[in-house]
Amino acid sequence: MKKSKTGGVLILDFGSQYTQLIARRVRENNVYSEILPSNTSLNSILSRNPKAIILSGGPSSVFSEDAPDFDKEILNIQIPILGICYGLQLLVHHSGGTVDSTGEGEYGFATIKTVIKNGITKNMSRSSKVWMSHMDQVTVVPDEWVVVAFSSNNIIAAIASKDQMRVATQFHPEVSQTDEGHILLKNFLFHISKCEKNWTAGNFVNEKVISIKDKIGNDKILVGVSGGVDSTVVASLINKAVGNKCFAVLIDHGLLRKNEAKDCVNALKQGLGMNIHLYDESELFFSRLKGVEDPEQKRKIIGDQFIKSFDRIASEIGKFKFLGQGTLYPDLIESGVSAGKSAHVIKSHHNVGGLPDQMNFDLIEPLKDLFKDEVRKVGIALKITDDLVKRHPFPGPGLGVRIIGEITKERVSILQEADEIFINILKEELEYDNIWQAFAVLIPVKTVGVMGDQRTYENLIALRAVTSLDGMTADWYRMPSEILSKISNKIVNNVIGVNRVVYDITSKPPSTIEWE
Ligand code: XMP
Repeated sequence: MKKSKTGGVLILDFGSQYTQLIARRVRENNVYSEILPSNTSLNSILSRNPKAIILSGGPSSVFSEDAPDFDKEILNIQIPILGICYGLQLLVHHSGGTVDSTGEGEYGFATIKTVIKNGITKNMSRSSKVWMSHMDQVTVVPDEWVVVAFSSNNIIAAIASKDQMRVATQFHPEVSQTDEGHILLKNFLFHISKCEKNWTAGNFVNEKVISIKDKIGNDKILVGVSGGVDSTVVASLINKAVGNKCFAVLIDHGLLRKNEAKDCVNALKQGLGMNIHLYDESELFFSRLKGVEDPEQKRKIIGDQFIKSFDRIASEIGKFKFLGQGTLYPDLIESGVSAGKSAHVIKSHHNVGGLPDQMNFDLIEPLKDLFKDEVRKVGIALKITDDLVKRHPFPGPGLGVRIIGEITKERVSILQEADEIFINILKEELEYDNIWQAFAVLIPVKTVGVMGDQRTYENLIALRAVTSLDGMTADWYRMPSEILSKISNKIVNNVIGVNRVVYDITSKPPSTIEWE
């Protein structure tokens, strides 16, 4: 079995919705982390040479018959273990303590009081806010263990063995709602486990290059590039690994931003020497979208035509064993395909699970454990230009979900002009990088205006700019009014067919980021 990097943390996954977040928090500290199934054997764990083990939370109760468990042998080794929530309960259960189902759970914010302020709680405040989500609780701590913190409900919130080789929290230190969770994790990683800070985006690139090269061997890989950050990073990662065995295609569905298709292909070809080809399929998309107004139907048609075009182009250019995709971790959650989860699918995202099985590719998705900001760091390590790496996210169906009602060439062109003005002003005013995503939406509802002495009766443009961490929740950006005014004036004065501009001031939820 392969030995992985030393100094890393193994996370045993008991099905928590936060397992990937734990991994991300470890990576934020530049420490390597790997997620493994909860029942991974001791041998397999030791072969990876970990510095520490984290037991994630999970939805189960230690009392249920099918409760997931770990290889109890790991309790006999001298590697520090941190148990979180269900992980804490398992540790207690197997170390001679008692977990009870008292019917007195805690969900949401709680305040904890630390009664021991060293080791795992070093540098933490006496009292701090944490995030709880548990039903069962510890009532008797194992011998040789001590209580480190209580919650204000007098429930045991953190415990540790006297030598601190076993530490556990009932709350979730990995979520942002726990104010001092980052301090606790740092204590665990560095004071207790002596982890090394050797995990960087550059190392991620080097490891992925080796594994992609290994996997592809003498075969060829096809990569669909959309102009967005994720697919650009994936394509350049694969290109770095296998050079011309990687064949990148950009399918222009006619719903990209103004000049985006050409600019993107040029940047990747000239800047990174990528083997990339542009296919203009816009006529096919427009003819299938004629007369269609329903948002979900538009998405389905765009997704379906995308697959058909992709399929045809792939068969025209030869045989490929592999397909590279820029799937990120939040894409998987939002599409409800995350392990064991059944998250409600809010909109059909065609970049996930959209390609039909009969296409018969082996998928390579090197970014599927990462969050967007981490992908940007990988992009920088790959020397992709700032303009591409810092680009706001752009949805697969493109401007198709930003034109309310029927999509026509004329409407696309009105929206492209308005959108270009909006984005350029954000860049000029140095606001672009403060915003997670900004775009214009065309609302082809005519309203009355006056220009010169002429009455006008034209379309409405809505501007949307949001701040967000991962697109799953978002707030509207408090844009300075003079910038909004500049954007509005320039759009109304320059874009034929628009005489009114409004700014969207709703957050997600209850709205979504895109309008359709
Ligand atoms: P919503 O509108 O669901 O958007 O709040 C959340 C994030 O996802 C992007 N989005 C998509 N991305 N295919 C994509 O690749 C899609 O069908 C799609 N729909 C929404 C959206 O731009 C935002 O960043």
